[in-house]
Amino acid sequence: MGACQGLAYDRQMAETRNHKLRAWVDEVAALTQPVQVEWCDGSPEEYERLCRLLVGRGTFTKLSDARRPSSYLARSDPADVARVEDRTFVCPRDPKDAGPTNNWVDPDAMRSSLTELFRGSMRGRTMYVVPFSMGPLGSPIAHLGVELTDSPYVAVNMRIMARMGTGALEAIGDNGEFVQCLHSVGAPLEAGQQDVAWPCNPAQVYVTHFPDTREIWSFGSGYGGNALLGKKCFALRIASVIGRDEGWLAEHMLILKLTAPSGKVRYVTGAFPSACGKTNLAMLVASMPDWKIETIGDDICWMKIGDDGRLRAINPEAGFFGVAPGTSMITNPNAVLTLSANCIFTNTALTEGGDVWWEGLTTEPPKHCTDWRGNEWTPESPTPAAHPNSRFTAPAAQDPAIAPEWEDPAGVPISAILLGGRRGSVVPLVYEAFDWAHGVFLGSIMASETTAAATGAVGKLRRDPFAMVPFCGYNMADYWGHWLSFRDRMDEENMPRVFYVNWFRKGVDGRFLWPGFGENSRVLEWIFERCDGTAEAVQTPIGYLPADGAIDIDGLEISEDDMRELLHVDREAWRAEVSSIAEFFAEFEDRLPTALTDQLEGLKSRLG
Ligand code: OXD
Ligand code: MN
Repeated sequence: MGACQGLAYDRQMAETRNHKLRAWVDEVAALTQPVQVEWCDGSPEEYERLCRLLVGRGTFTKLSDARRPSSYLARSDPADVARVEDRTFVCPRDPKDAGPTNNWVDPDAMRSSLTELFRGSMRGRTMYVVPFSMGPLGSPIAHLGVELTDSPYVAVNMRIMARMGTGALEAIGDNGEFVQCLHSVGAPLEAGQQDVAWPCNPAQVYVTHFPDTREIWSFGSGYGGNALLGKKCFALRIASVIGRDEGWLAEHMLILKLTAPSGKVRYVTGAFPSACGKTNLAMLVASMPDWKIETIGDDICWMKIGDDGRLRAINPEAGFFGVAPGTSMITNPNAVLTLSANCIFTNTALTEGGDVWWEGLTTEPPKHCTDWRGNEWTPESPTPAAHPNSRFTAPAAQDPAIAPEWEDPAGVPISAILLGGRRGSVVPLVYEAFDWAHGVFLGSIMASETTAAATGAVGKLRRDPFAMVPFCGYNMADYWGHWLSFRDRMDEENMPRVFYVNWFRKGVDGRFLWPGFGENSRVLEWIFERCDGTAEAVQTPIGYLPADGAIDIDGLEISEDDMRELLHVDREAWRAEVSSIAEFFAEFEDRLPTALTDQLEGLKSRLG
């Protein structure tokens, strides 16, 4: 390993007796040919050193505004700005196990093309060995991984987003299991070649998952979920497969803690497609007097059945990788306060005072700033100052609303599961599933109007069951079957109740009918009380809706007409929905659980 004899390499190699890990690091180093291998310990010193290195390379700009200490701005290559779903692959041996919502390539063929791409791909670069735990170290719900990456940007982001470093390496121990996550920006440097600030290879992006061997191979992109492999790739795509095999759930869900004026606490999870206000909901400041909302997680939730027979959830992440535009003291004050120090911003604008800015942060835009591409920007400029998918990476512990038990290794017991999406019409403000199987049906028919979080068209209706279409590591129909199986795994009284919410319904004049944000706590109150058996509901063909007056609108300026419209079940529109669901279900052919066909038939006959 002549080229790989960095000091750090030797030290950690001596410390790590895990043969599988050592062999894999050696094998990847031999294939990718980095100039050195550096094992990350996760210490603050290491973080600072890597941040300085990134400043030196021009990847990072240190924010000079004293009100935002120890924070950095990164500008990516304009061709590497979001997750790339058309370059994301799920490669089990049998294509039917990937299902119609995933891109599938034969695993042997994929492995051999990727091997050729990775050959020499780290030349001129350091390979970082990044051990990490998804979930609190030692939690029975947590799982371990190691990412090998040639991007120091990835290493520092992973330190915020996961429990990264020596603790995780120790937890892996001599024989422990870990998910292999291999990443390269795919931009080797030849001798004397000058590096660029954001190396990447947008023409050859592959975000590939091998579920049978629980491996991830990601090439060509340095951005977000394509590159921080603990997040979408591991904690959702690979973890969903592990959950299927082991009897638990890995979900694209926030987790929040709701405390009623009586002091009673309930924990709620929520699945919403990307950029539907999930982070805002997770950090909501309740407008309802004496109700308190605290955050456990904003994006991913792992749930296992605990010894008490209840579904217990952890947030496998340690940080927030949130969409910046639209985040403000009005829309999400807790997020803005979380961002006060120790953050990495990617593709936001930079103010003249050395701080970050994005559309919506302040009502008045700065008169002059530098946009996400590094160009001068004024409010007259035709393009936004921050990229619509610009992000913050922030330690969750800095959230003033983080619940004290957010790192409880035992997880928190879940009472209710929210489902939702962005629907201008059809779907009412809130309704409750009749029972678990109906709840799974509601998850399977989730749909939302698309946003900028992924590349592709914006504003189109997309069916996104459980907000997992981009993230489910196996056949979505089998995934629904897995959800249905919890009926048999749990006692009735322990099953969470399932609710569908839609904050985005519009009137005929195109205006949002519901004020949203803090006022969503009024809907959460109804949900809380449904779990207690104290809130009134009416049975409709689609589920239980709040009875007249059951949602507390005291102090809210909303007309009776708007409220009626928000809770209206438009049978005609739902009949059209039934046809569109039937078309969607047909894609899953014989893998579709019959319980869901029965649910669709049931809905159709109830609609009359
Ligand atoms: C995310 C997403 O980044 O869902 O969380 O796209
Ligand atoms: Mn997400």
